[in-house]
Amino acid sequence: MHRVVTPKILYFGTPVVLISTLNEDGTANLAPMSSAWWLNQSCMLGMSEKSQTVRNMARERQCVLNLPSANLADAVDRLALLTGRNPVPDTKAQLGYRYEPDKFGTAGLSPEPSHFVKPPRAKECPVQLEALVEQIHAFGQPSSLTAIEVSIVRVHVDERILMDGEANYIDPEKWNPLIMNFCEFFGLGGKLRPSTLAPVFAPPSRDGR
Ligand SMILES: Cc1cc2nc3c(=O)[nH]c(=O)nc-3n(C[C@H](O)[C@H](O)[C@H](O)COP(=O)(O)O)c2cc1C
Repeated sequence: MHRVVTPKILYFGTPVVLISTLNEDGTANLAPMSSAWWLNQSCMLGMSEKSQTVRNMARERQCVLNLPSANLADAVDRLALLTGRNPVPDTKAQLGYRYEPDKFGTAGLSPEPSHFVKPPRAKECPVQLEALVEQIHAFGQPSSLTAIEVSIVRVHVDERILMDGEANYIDPEKWNPLIMNFCEFFGLGGKLRPSTLAPVFAPPSRDGR
């Protein structure tokens, strides 16, 4: 039996991304978000333009998408209700947000230099994607939301999540993304079964060629 309901949010479960960007003064900002999806070597990010992150991305055209594993939920949560924007916009202040210039330090994460972009990577995140901003689209008008299209120019992966003996394949049995499911943090459950699509993307050593 299905019911017609009017949920306040439609956060059905997506991976958390920590976006690092560069502020006007050259310091780094780090912001959690979870409205992200991937296609080929690109990603679309849904962010409010009231965030410092969108301002930084519009100006600098660069960012790093750091993907935390499920065991980094506490670090991510330390960034909730913080903004790198000063003064804090009224709408956010009313929700309890406060200005924090040192997001890396507050989260307990370590900045490390990127290869192609200026914002630093978050060392503890097993996946770090250096990215360039391609386009910023208005989204859900009238609203302050934007859909930011970025292209990934360098992929850094902790070798512990690679398939055994494979240089370029991430092992889904080793990668445990942090999932924002409505407003609660989850890891992934165990594998159910392979997808029929699996052989198409299998490493050459495993697809029988
Ligand atoms: C787990 C989590 C997921 C979030 N997802 C989003 C999101 O998808 N889009 C968004 O605009 N804000 C999201 N937020 C809120 C932003 O983190 C918040 O706007 C923050 O102030 C942005 O930081 P900044 O202003 O320093 O850029 C999320 C926050 C948390 C803790």
